[in-house]
Amino acid sequence: MFYPFELEKYLGDLLPERDPLLQEMEEQALLETIPVVTPAVGNFLAQLVQVHNSKNILEIGTAIGYSTLWLARAVKINNGHITTIDMNINRRNQALEYFERANLSEYITSLFGDARKILPDLESKFDFAFIDAAKGEYLEYLELVTPLLESGGLLVIDNVLFRGWVVPGSNFDAKYNRMVNTLREFLTRLSQDPKYFTSVLPLGDGLAVSIKIS
Ligand SMILES: C[S@@+](CC[C@H](N)C(=O)[O-])C[C@H]1O[C@@H](n2cnc3c(N)ncnc32)[C@H](O)[C@@H]1O
Repeated sequence: MFYPFELEKYLGDLLPERDPLLQEMEEQALLETIPVVTPAVGNFLAQLVQVHNSKNILEIGTAIGYSTLWLARAVKINNGHITTIDMNINRRNQALEYFERANLSEYITSLFGDARKILPDLESKFDFAFIDAAKGEYLEYLELVTPLLESGGLLVIDNVLFRGWVVPGSNFDAKYNRMVNTLREFLTRLSQDPKYFTSVLPLGDGLAVSIKIS
C-alpha cells in the first residue's frame, strides 16, 4: 500500500514555522534516526491538550523530548504538568537539556526506566496519556495506563498504522509480519474495548485517539 508521506509533508508545510529549538530537534532526530512525531502530529497533540483542557499528562517514550515539548507548551497554558518516561539514558539526557533550553523544566517530570516497571508505582491520575514507545509493548502499556487515566481522559497512541502496513492488503517485507499482526490485534482490542471510545486517524504514522468512558 502506498503510504502518503507526501501528504504528511504537505500538512507539516501548512503549519506556521516552528521556532528554532523545535527545528533543531527535528534536525537532530533526523541525524540520529530517532522516530519522533511529525510536526503535524505534534501540532495535533498540542491542539488536543488545549481543546480538552488537559492538566496532567503522561507520556511513554520521551526520546529527545520533541513530542514532550509540544505537549508541555500546551499544558503550560492550562497550568498543568507532564510526566514523561524513557529507558534510554542518552536520549533522556538530551531531552533534559532541551527542556532547560525551552525554559519548561518546571512543567516536566522526566522519569528514567522501563515504563512497564514505573507505571504500576505511579500514584497520580492523569487526564491525558500519550503512548509512543515500543510497538510490541502497546498492549502492556494499555493495561497499565488504563487504571491511571481519569474517566473522560484522552489516550493517544502513535504508530498504530505502522507505515500503512497494518491496513490489510498492504505490501511489506515478511520480517515485519509479526509487528503488523501485533498492531492489528492491538487496534482490534482497543477499538472494541468498552472502556474506550476510539477513532484511528491516518495522521503521521497512524494515531489512535480514545476517550476513557466512565
Ligand atoms: C519513537 S521514540 C519516542 C519519540 C517521542 N515521543 C517524540 O515523538 O519525540 C520511542 C522511545 O521509547 C523508548 N522506549 C521503548 N520502550 C520503552 C519502555 N518499555 N519504557 C520506556 N521507554 C521505552 C525508547 O527508548 C525511545 O526513546
